[in-house]
Amino acid sequence: MKTILITGAAGDVGTHLRRELASKYVLKASDLRSLTKINKEEKFVRADISKFSDALRITKGVDAVVHMGGYSVEGPWDGILQANIIGCYNVFEAARRNGVKRIVFPTSNHATGFYRRKDTIDHRVYPKPDGRYGVSKVFGEALGSLYADKYGMEVFCIRIGNVNPVPIDKRRLSIWLSPRDLAQLVTIGIEHPKIRFEIVYGVSRNKRSWYDNSNAYRLGYKPQDDSERYAKEVMAREKPGADPIAEMYQGGTFTVAEEVPNPAPLPKMKRKK
Ligand SMILES: NC(=O)c1ccc[n+]([C@@H]2O[C@H](COP(=O)([O-])OP(=O)(O)OC[C@H]3O[C@@H](n4cnc5c(N)ncnc54)[C@H](O)[C@@H]3O)[C@@H](O)[C@H]2O)c1
Repeated sequence: MKTILITGAAGDVGTHLRRELASKYVLKASDLRSLTKINKEEKFVRADISKFSDALRITKGVDAVVHMGGYSVEGPWDGILQANIIGCYNVFEAARRNGVKRIVFPTSNHATGFYRRKDTIDHRVYPKPDGRYGVSKVFGEALGSLYADKYGMEVFCIRIGNVNPVPIDKRRLSIWLSPRDLAQLVTIGIEHPKIRFEIVYGVSRNKRSWYDNSNAYRLGYKPQDDSERYAKEVMAREKPGADPIAEMYQGGTFTVAEEVPNPAPLPKMKRKK
């Protein structure tokens, strides 16, 4: 069995992924925070990826890295800089130095959030990030491209829409990714023999999708879920009166907000006096 490092393993997506991949791989789960539950056959290693020495330590002896760790919403520049720019660089560079070729990188729909909802976009469009967070995801994609072209690494970027057991609002009917479809995409990212540098959209086969995900289908992705099954229920709950700009663009409220509540606030560090 391959050993896979998952950074950000305590986060929302990491938790879904660890459950879905538990029987397929030996998982080395890493995060700044503790895991609420450690699955059988799983090893936890605490690390702060904004420190290069930590990144070097955790990427040693693994077959691939699924790099989920970081700041996952729009927020203050310093938090994004440390976790998503410096942290992302550290993980790629540490993997390279440790001879780990394969990296699955979860980028985001917010790398292209300023495309309009009436547009259908594919993996070849130029980025249109909708905030500092989106810019950090574009940085990760660019870094992946550099490491593939210059150092022969194999980088699979998934522009994730929204991972949830069920889609939770109108916008997410278009960008929903079920946990099992997420696991299928990540598995392609780990296993496909011909990955050099690829960008795909991390969405299920949603009828209301804004994406032409033909690049994922070309690589063998066969999503099993479609948000339409939940559409009636979701639309019945949807409240009118949302911001018209947020409604116009794919990135939704990220196109207007300066900060979105962070689902993974950083733990308070004990400082030496
Ligand atoms: N949730 C989604 O639907 C979604 C959508 C698009 C992209 N993504 C991307 O997927 C990844 C995971 O998202 P998520 O929703 O699980 O986010 P999350 O905020 O729930 O989890 C992120 C994890 O990263 C950890 N982390 C933050 N800074 C760190 C550091 N310096 N060192 C080590 N660990 C650190 C946090 O402790 C947290 O557990 C993120 O990169 C996010 O940008 C997620």
